[in-house]
Order: sequence, then C-alpha cells, then structure tokens
Amino acid sequence: MRTARCGSALLRTKKHRVTNFIRDKKDLDYTPLPDIFHDVFGHIPYLAIPQYARIIEKFGRAMLHAKTEADRSKLVSLGWYGYEFGLIKENGEMKAFGTGLISSQGELENAFSENVLKLPYDAEIVSNTPISAHEFHKKLFVLENLDQLEEVVDRWL
Ligand SMILES: [Fe+2]
Repeated sequence: MRTARCGSALLRTKKHRVTNFIRDKKDLDYTPLPDIFHDVFGHIPYLAIPQYARIIEKFGRAMLHAKTEADRSKLVSLGWYGYEFGLIKENGEMKAFGTGLISSQGELENAFSENVLKLPYDAEIVSNTPISAHEFHKKLFVLENLDQLEEVVDRWL
C-alpha cells in the first residue's frame, strides 16, 4: 500500500521518507511504486503548506493509533483518495491535488477523463473504497478544501 510505504511512523514525527528509486522510462505515464519524482515533486513542495504538513502528520499519528486492521485499511483509503489521489475544488474549479496525480501524467490525464467517476469526498464512502496501485483509477473523490481533509483525519485522533 502506497500510503503505508510513505511511512506512518516517520510522518508522525514530521519526517517524510524519500525513495531513491526512479521509474523506468517505460513507466513515465504510470508507476505502481512511488519513486523519487513522486516524493520530491509531489509530496515535498506541499509540505511547505502548514495545513498540508499538519494533515500528513495527523494521518501518520492516526495510523499508529488505529487498533484494528480494518481501521488501518479505512485510514489508508482516506489518505489514498485524499492526499495521494484526491481532487480538490479551488474557486469552484476541480483541480488535481493528490501527489499520485501530479507526479504521473497518465494518472493526471486519466483523472480528468470521462473514464473516471468523480464523487464528493464523503468520508464514509471513501473509507470503504479499496485502493489499487496496479491500474488507473475508475473512481476518484473531490475534496471541498483542505479543511475537509483535516476534519476527516481529526475524527481518528
Ligand atoms: Fe505518496
């Protein structure tokens, strides 16, 4: 699971792991593994936004506090469809937000295509939506704003 690989324990301590893996040329459009481009171009610049950094730290803390595998799975989905592959509204316009989208041209094009169902980021629905790192998404979720994602993770702390 990509979110788990992002290192919950490190996130909780406000440190973000960065891989040294670089995707193969044939995987430019899509890589099943987060690579250095995903981490450095995707996550790291966002961490300069205090609210984003706080949200990431809270997800890490929530993962460590989760008592059951079912709860961890829900948190993984909430993060996956939030900061990894979420869409977000900005001035009424839908924008790419998740680092898995902004670090993958193929995922980005897919996200805005008619192939993908875009649904409101409803925590109950999102938390019960399985993730898959092995195919383009057929369903993504749209956050109203960062406050919404922070309110969601706050319920797990
Ligand atoms: Fe990531």
